[in-house]
Amino acid sequence: MSMIIGRQEFGRPEDAGKVLTTEEAFTLLNEWVLNPRLQLHMKQVGHLMKEWAKEKESLNDADQHRWYIAGLLHDADWDQWPESHCKRIIEELERRHVDPEVIHAIASHGPVHFGVEPVTRMDKMLYAFDELSGLVHAYSLMRPTGYDGMELKGVKKRLKEKYFAANVSREEIQDAADRAAVPLEELIQFIISHQKNAV
Ligand SMILES: [Fe+2]
Ligand SMILES: [Fe+2]
Repeated sequence: MSMIIGRQEFGRPEDAGKVLTTEEAFTLLNEWVLNPRLQLHMKQVGHLMKEWAKEKESLNDADQHRWYIAGLLHDADWDQWPESHCKRIIEELERRHVDPEVIHAIASHGPVHFGVEPVTRMDKMLYAFDELSGLVHAYSLMRPTGYDGMELKGVKKRLKEKYFAANVSREEIQDAADRAAVPLEELIQFIISHQKNAV
């Protein structure tokens, strides 16, 4: 099964700045994603993207929303059409004339799998949050207090245990942090302090 997308250009330049509203994005998410765990993952990544855009990139509300939508919808087709992940959501967003930068971010959230390199800050942060967010969430589920009292060193320990969340690629996590030029510790800390508030 190859998920290589086979092209590098997405959307139309004249659609720059156009995105779905939160309501429209949730309608799509609820229609396409039946698995509640995947829904939660997408909401968590969307939340992290938005908060990062605000706090670390000092972007305005419109840009924060673009980052949010990219995070929220990045796995929209994974539940029902894993063999065409993420071609199907890309085509849907192109059909709806969504901002090409948002579509590119989704297309590049796994360069090894999709054959599209992350270029922009939005691309790189989506790639950086995706797998790491899942690992931190898996860790929260095995802690009696969930996210409360979670520490950086606990997450780093889990990262080193190859049988913990074994499907999460440590190589990709490090590659993504390197490309984003954000220390892994900073990413983990940011996820610990923000992820529990994702809705
Ligand atoms: Fe994905
Ligand atoms: Fe994901």
